[in-house]
Amino acid sequence: MQEMLERTQAMLARHHRHGENFAQLMKDTFAGRFNDEFWAAWRQWIEPVLSASPVVLDLGSGPGLFLRALAERYPGGRAIGVECASYMLEAMGELPAGCEVMCADLHDPRLPLAEGAVDAAVASVVLHELNQPLRALQEVRRCLKPGGRLYILDWVRAPLEVYVRNETSEEQVFDPVTPVSELEDIFTHFIEHNRFSREDLGYLLEHCGFAVLDSTALREGRFARLVAEKR
Ligand SMILES: C[S@@+](CC[C@H](N)C(=O)[O-])C[C@H]1O[C@@H](n2cnc3c(N)ncnc32)[C@H](O)[C@@H]1O
Repeated sequence: MQEMLERTQAMLARHHRHGENFAQLMKDTFAGRFNDEFWAAWRQWIEPVLSASPVVLDLGSGPGLFLRALAERYPGGRAIGVECASYMLEAMGELPAGCEVMCADLHDPRLPLAEGAVDAAVASVVLHELNQPLRALQEVRRCLKPGGRLYILDWVRAPLEVYVRNETSEEQVFDPVTPVSELEDIFTHFIEHNRFSREDLGYLLEHCGFAVLDSTALREGRFARLVAEKR
């Protein structure tokens, strides 16, 4: 277990390029991910299944801003983060009452939560960072109550042209003097951000015991939002 965790932490440190900067980037871009559209979807798909004092699991919680938003929204509830990158755990600072974080590897999380203890779970831009997402999805299903729901937002497969136009620039990519190390970084991230299609995520969810309630393409098809219910 310890060996797997260390491998994951090293892989994430490379993928995030510079941990402290990436933690700050996640804070700076939080409002763009958890925007009005997100909260409208939350009201439509997630809120109807929340209990009076909801328990919400946030997979890959980064610097913890969503945990804080949940605590503010649902006083008396329980917002539980799962995270394993040390720079993210440090960037969380002291969490307010109602928030907690579990340091676990989502490649095989065994969370100290009873079966059916969770109302809803969120995986925001995290599944693409996993070598395989099956154990995480199966563990979320175990922790969710019957009818509990999972909200996923993630990168999905898009053509290279769309990716280059949004993430870097054609001048940069095709310039013969661009350093090889930079090209390797861009193309490695292209593969990592293109791990699954929106349909693949639906397939994984269905085979992990969820019914997909909604699947929406976002941002020129580079991202997808899926909502699934524990069957
Ligand atoms: C792109 S960040 C998104 C953070 C946050 N969910 C948000 O949307 O603001 C993905 C987070 O998932 C965490 N993560 C990725 N793989 C993980 C794993 N195997 N175990 C635990 N956390 C992981 C990363 O460390 C990172 O903080």
